[in-house]
Amino acid sequence: MFTTAPSKLDQNQLSALPRDLFQAIQTLKRELNAVVLAHYYQDPDIQDIADYIGDSLGLSQQAANTNAEVIVFAGVHFMAETAKILNPNKLVLLPDLDAGCSLADSCPPESFAAFKAAHPDHLVVSYINCTAEIKAMSDIICTSSNAVQIVNQIPKDQPIIFAPDRNLGRYVMAETGRDLVLWDGACMVHENFSEKKMVQLQVAHPSAEVIAHPECEPAVLRHASYIGSTTALLKYAQKSSKQAFIVVTESGIIHQMQKQAPDKQFIPAPPMNSCACNECPHMRLNTLEKLYLCMKNRTPEITLPGDIQAAALRPIQRMLEMSV
Ligand code: 13P
Ligand code: SF4
Repeated sequence: MFTTAPSKLDQNQLSALPRDLFQAIQTLKRELNAVVLAHYYQDPDIQDIADYIGDSLGLSQQAANTNAEVIVFAGVHFMAETAKILNPNKLVLLPDLDAGCSLADSCPPESFAAFKAAHPDHLVVSYINCTAEIKAMSDIICTSSNAVQIVNQIPKDQPIIFAPDRNLGRYVMAETGRDLVLWDGACMVHENFSEKKMVQLQVAHPSAEVIAHPECEPAVLRHASYIGSTTALLKYAQKSSKQAFIVVTESGIIHQMQKQAPDKQFIPAPPMNSCACNECPHMRLNTLEKLYLCMKNRTPEITLPGDIQAAALRPIQRMLEMSV
């Protein structure tokens, strides 16, 4: 997708790995003056070695404020790209450059430019899950944790394009009462939850509360007692008096939920296929081995054309200013 770098390690790379990867990564962090930022959808091992684990907003805020010289981003390409836009002079590493995002891919820059041109009076609010090219065409970036807050700060008579996630867009429309023009994109993980299987789980666990990410389809969201970003879901599960939760987002978050509330039960909502859990295939391309290798070899790194980088910075900064 982004490079010719192999997604799978060859035999030579595997046999050269140190015995204790955790120890080796800690040593490299010190040697490089590096910070490891990880999203909740990463493999549990990666979450456990990270200096900071968070949702897209938290990760952007950390990237904007870090003193580290090297940012190792355990997440997907658009997240590492955001860190690079915020830190043009720092080395930003992504363990596997093929770790893309179906939602970002659902909004190609040429088509979006035409869509924007067809709505010349509209302000463009884009979900951070988009490419740097889309960010460069946007007025304000948002994440799932601040989308409602940001749209509420825009004057009521200002028409708005919301891209690229139609489900988050619909959720924001319902929460704000605004009529947004939506780009028709979706996340392959969150649009794939099965309403039928989720209802069957509710019947099997009648005291469990359904908590869901706003990237899910409306048919699934209507069963949720609480809707929020990954960080919001984590906080809610911790604070709630309920003892069991049906978690309708990528199942990686359950590692943190179990760590923070070990006595509670977290049941992953199943996708439409035969799997019990719903994992993001892009996020899961990163492994502890690739994390070690990218730090050891200082590659693959994120690079961006200067004009795109400069144009994409402005709407990200607006988001950070509007989120305090
Ligand atoms: P948040 O990190 O905002 O919860 O979004 C989840 C997601 O899909 C990231 O790819
Ligand atoms: Fe993209 Fe969905 Fe994976 Fe998040 S979970 S990185 S939105 S495909």
